[in-house]
Amino acid sequence: MSALSIRNVWMEYTGQIVLERINLEIESGAFVAIVGPSGCGKTTFLRLLLGQERPTRGSIMLDGAPMPDEPGPDRGVVFQRYSVFPHLTVLGNVLLGAELAAAPLLGRLFGAPRRRAIDAARALLAEVGLAESEQKYPAQLSGGMQQRLALAQALICKPRVLLLDEPFGALDPGIRSEIHTLMRRLWRERGVTIVMVTHDLREAFFLGTRVVVLDRLRNRPEERQRYGATITQNIEVHRRRTPDADLESGRDDPARMDPTRRDDPVRQN
Ligand SMILES: Nc1ncnc2c1ncn2[C@@H]1O[C@H](COP(=O)(O)OP(=O)(O)O)[C@@H](O)[C@H]1O
Ligand SMILES: [Mg+2]
Repeated sequence: MSALSIRNVWMEYTGQIVLERINLEIESGAFVAIVGPSGCGKTTFLRLLLGQERPTRGSIMLDGAPMPDEPGPDRGVVFQRYSVFPHLTVLGNVLLGAELAAAPLLGRLFGAPRRRAIDAARALLAEVGLAESEQKYPAQLSGGMQQRLALAQALICKPRVLLLDEPFGALDPGIRSEIHTLMRRLWRERGVTIVMVTHDLREAFFLGTRVVVLDRLRNRPEERQRYGATITQNIEVHRRRTPDADLESGRDDPARMDPTRRDDPVRQN
């Protein structure tokens, strides 16, 4: 498990401020859901956490140490689409995740380490419900299965932080509800810290232990370049980490929930 500390982070691209004054403490094992209007900088924020970009100002600490400059195996990532390699089988995709982490230069493992990696990949594929599909190629999988595969590929290195960018946005509602249950199980059992961007508020409250809203406080066209988005709401959602019957039966799944119901155990900071 892993904690992230984001202090006074600003992100500016030539002449345009995208994010400003971002302060956020993410406790170890949290599941943070980030919502906000399109173009407000959610993906940019994830790229900062991944180490793909450096903030213009401010600092990001991972477990008390400055964030490494580059993406590493301690941080896994899943995008909305195209996270997996089309020319590799399901097993090959998960294996590649393990191989790149263990042998970054060669990208290959041999002998006993390879056999161990295959065992680990198969166990993970079983966990995400893809055991029967290990020899298939991504094009032969449904959208939901592809995202399960992307999750397995990201989790094989046992990342301390898992970053998800609208991972279920393109899926049908029924499939989403299944993958939500899987997601909660993976989060609960693996103790990984998760930061997920979603455009679905109900998904955010269903999965998140914290829901963070990113938005611009000033939105006049002439001010767009000069002011970035910041955290306008930071809502703690109480949730037990222990298994509960409601979860396994999917009883509190948003897909089955009355959208007008407003008794979510939410406390606003
Ligand atoms: N590499 C980049 N160079 C310049 N501008 C960028 C870059 N990446 C993102 N932006 C700008 O930052 C803003 C936020 O983008 P993004 O983080 O993708 O938003 P979101 O994910 O919330 O839809 C957009 O105006 C986008 O054009
Ligand atoms: Mg985005």
